[in-house]
Amino acid sequence: MTQPRTPTARRYLMCRPDFFEVTYEINPWMDVTRATDRERAIAQWETLRDAYLAWGHTVELIDPAPGLPDMVYAANGATVVDGLVYSARFRYPERAAEGPLYEKWFADHGFITQTAAQINEGEGDILLVGDTFLAGSGFRTDPAAHAELAALSGHEVVTLELVDPRFYHLDTAIAVLDSRPGHELIAYYPPAFSATSQAVLAARYPDAVMATEADAIALGLNAVSDGLHVVVAPAAVDLAAELRARGFEPHPVDTTELLKGGGGAKCCTLEIRS
Ligand code: ARG
Repeated sequence: MTQPRTPTARRYLMCRPDFFEVTYEINPWMDVTRATDRERAIAQWETLRDAYLAWGHTVELIDPAPGLPDMVYAANGATVVDGLVYSARFRYPERAAEGPLYEKWFADHGFITQTAAQINEGEGDILLVGDTFLAGSGFRTDPAAHAELAALSGHEVVTLELVDPRFYHLDTAIAVLDSRPGHELIAYYPPAFSATSQAVLAARYPDAVMATEADAIALGLNAVSDGLHVVVAPAAVDLAAELRARGFEPHPVDTTELLKGGGGAKCCTLEIRS
């Protein structure tokens, strides 16, 4: 029997891709020799934002900054839980200036912020599922940040090791479909993880949706769910069918221009959990 799905109102932070381009390569999706179309990136981003607004979610905006083309990937900007903001500290110098800009946005909006001592790329690698954080390592976020986050937040943090450079952030390999405690549901692509981490995921989430390789390489797991509506890349057809079978409403949003930087819908969406 299909479970009834319950959407909950969300508050998101997004950054319009006004300065979008690919001027450096820090993941295998980025290719500086390939042309980007900023107008198209903006149009795709606006479609995503409009979907959130249509579902009744709140979308806050941070000003984009010239010279920081990856700032559109707001998910990397921080991790926010119980109103506490754990700042991002980026692996690569090209993105380093984004951490303080996002932290300042939160401070200016009345949040208590904690400046990270350890390298972490926000919700790109840190996903809240129920009361537990799943935290990626292997490419960007340092496992020392997992311990720092556990100490600061009081939440359990489970380390998962990513092994395929195409899936360099945890949110490219796992989608959180339902984060309500007691109703946790994720989708993931097992080969993106080390054998040990695959075993951890299998034991914790026996009912998880298994993404296919085609879903994964379309960055279909970079999806955003409000508990009912799930924004998903149009090419992730297997995932969309499985979501429908599980009672969700998949909503294809084309983010292929933003994929040139190595990100999709989830990368563009930071959840503010107050
Ligand atoms: N070009 C960006 C980077 O490599 C893409 C970030 C994608 N964000 C994400 N949450 N996965 O850092």
